[in-house]
Amino acid sequence: MRTYNLALIGFGGVNRALAQLIAEDPTRFAHLGFELKVVAITDLLMGSLVQSEGVDLGAVQSLPRGETFESFAGGSATADNERIIRDSPADIVVEATFTDPTDGEPAASHVRWALDSGKSVTTTNKGPVAFHAEALTKLAADNGALFAYEGAVLSGTPVLGLARDQLAGLTIRGFQGILNGTSNYVIGRMEAGLTLESAVREAQAEGYAEADPTADIGGSDVQLKVAILANELLGAGISPADVDATGITGIAPDDIIDAAREGRRYKLIGSARRTEDGGIIATVAPRALEADHPLAHVPGATNAVSFETDLLGTVTITGPGAGRIETAFALITDIIAIHSHEKEKVDA
Ligand code: HSE
Repeated sequence: MRTYNLALIGFGGVNRALAQLIAEDPTRFAHLGFELKVVAITDLLMGSLVQSEGVDLGAVQSLPRGETFESFAGGSATADNERIIRDSPADIVVEATFTDPTDGEPAASHVRWALDSGKSVTTTNKGPVAFHAEALTKLAADNGALFAYEGAVLSGTPVLGLARDQLAGLTIRGFQGILNGTSNYVIGRMEAGLTLESAVREAQAEGYAEADPTADIGGSDVQLKVAILANELLGAGISPADVDATGITGIAPDDIIDAAREGRRYKLIGSARRTEDGGIIATVAPRALEADHPLAHVPGATNAVSFETDLLGTVTITGPGAGRIETAFALITDIIAIHSHEKEKVDA
């Protein structure tokens, strides 16, 4: 049985959910041939904690809001991310800090420090992936590590793995997706008569929304995800700024209700496709879909992606796109991929 030591960077909803899953059942992954031990945690508000023998996850989870790790052995009130990422006895760095939609920092540096010191990384953070996936993947390969980011799009729903593994034998010509759970949830609640503001508050209470929900409803969250998918699925080589993005705030509430009465459903659609001359068109925009569109009835915070393929026609995957446990599951998917990578290194 292999034990992987984890350093959790950011101790918000997602990494707390991962800690909860590990604490609830330490043998959860035994059938896969490994177990997980958290040896370090850093957080902007709580500081940092390093305990090589394994952090008492119950104790850190029950730390009152506003207190730091200072009172714990190996704890400090400051989050010394670079030192802990580079020097803690972690094998895998789990990056789940906030997403900066302008340059992906400081998360991108967290990933770089980890890979540079030979540690594999799993992240649910869209920033480093949208801006630097290619460079970070190369850095990982140069250091014998893996950079894994299934949760950057569609949280735990395995859209990247599906495209990379199961659809590898065909050509994906384009995709359309509902890529933001908050805005889909908000539109659904506005169809039921709520205001935009109250619907956003509900989405925040459910844990779907970003720390700053303007990224969700303004389109920039989907802009990052379209760039990630376009690069992964279409080899587009684009940046988020290449994706023309409009959010849902400009849709008149009455238009949403009137469309629903007529059987059409407003959805925030992120899409990209290859043009005949080899270019890429990538956009985010609200669209009123006809009832027979494959994405028209995707409900609540659920996400979906429809791939346009040469051999199978349209293939659609749907599932959770947000939520703490759902996103933590993506980290587990990545850790399983890192485990396979480690086994391949041993066999080579
Ligand atoms: N805030 C995002 C959403 C979470 O609502 O979809 C995952 O990126």
